[in-house]
Amino acid sequence: MTSYKDLGLVNSREMFAKAVKGGFAVPAYNFNNMEQMQAIIEACVETKSPVILQVSAGARKYANQTLLRYMAQGAVEYAKELGYEIPIVLHLDHGADFEICKACVDSGFSSVMIDGSHHSYEENIAVTKKVVEYAHAHDVTVEGELGVLAGVEDDVVAEESTYTKPEEVEDFVAKTGVDSLAISIGTSHGANKFTPAQCTKNADGVLIPPPLRFDILEEIEKRLPGFPIVLHGSSSVPQDLIKIINDNGGKMADAVGIPEEQLRKAAKSAVCKINIDSDGRIAMTAAVRKVFVDSPGEFDPRKYLGPARDSLKELYKLKNINVLGSANQA
Ligand code: G3H
Ligand code: 13P
Ligand code: ZN
Repeated sequence: MTSYKDLGLVNSREMFAKAVKGGFAVPAYNFNNMEQMQAIIEACVETKSPVILQVSAGARKYANQTLLRYMAQGAVEYAKELGYEIPIVLHLDHGADFEICKACVDSGFSSVMIDGSHHSYEENIAVTKKVVEYAHAHDVTVEGELGVLAGVEDDVVAEESTYTKPEEVEDFVAKTGVDSLAISIGTSHGANKFTPAQCTKNADGVLIPPPLRFDILEEIEKRLPGFPIVLHGSSSVPQDLIKIINDNGGKMADAVGIPEEQLRKAAKSAVCKINIDSDGRIAMTAAVRKVFVDSPGEFDPRKYLGPARDSLKELYKLKNINVLGSANQA
């Protein structure tokens, strides 16, 4: 049993209280490898932002949970070495059941998500409550989810979103004791968040997605005043990066995300954690593709992973400053 407290990590409680009060959102960035971890920490130290390092089931399969946990411990030391101590949470993203949440609590995670959103309402409450009881006994914070996001969440694929029902949130939070709640108001996972048929087109032929359901968010805020709300699936899918990918041999058709101004608006509300993964993947892919096309003789991984890391860091700095408002909040 390893406590996150011995690793220099923090849980999300104080971070979220500050975010709700200060009208900003804490970035939750996924990591699977060293370059992503370096980019996240450098970006957040340089912008003086708190950060949530997220580990998905896919990340655990790819990189090994033990290694990722040691990397998070390394991230704490690395941030110190860079000269500014920021609060760092190590969070399990989309925990599928009690067992995985328990394993993460036991190995040094400071926060876990139990994603019971694909279960019935009653089953969601039962599994979430069980996770909360175990996690809180170790001072680990818990995120629950109500409503289903379209797109791929690890191995679960949902064709369409089911919006969170505001009339359920008070009961769910009271019965489970969760510390934060992920909701569904029109965001979704991945780089193709909407089909072209769901979008309109502007004069330049650019796809404009339907707006997020801020009416649902407002209703939830009214029912749970001051309670931390989480938005998954919040990548913006930058079109300049998609162009670099497609101009350099990639094939990402009709990729569309959540416009940044909508996320900015959400960050000022009760939304205090915004999950971003796909944009990071897109930034790294664009940089790697460009190196391969511009310098076909290159075969040292540092020569393409380095630019990918730099591009990711720049993207995350801009997110913290311009979108989440988390810069200078650490
Ligand atoms: O929730 C989805 C995240 O982007 C993680 O995806 O399971 O492919 O690592 P992944
Ligand atoms: P994106 O696919 O929009 O980056 O969402 C990531 C996410 O929600 C991770 O849990
Ligand atoms: Zn998610």
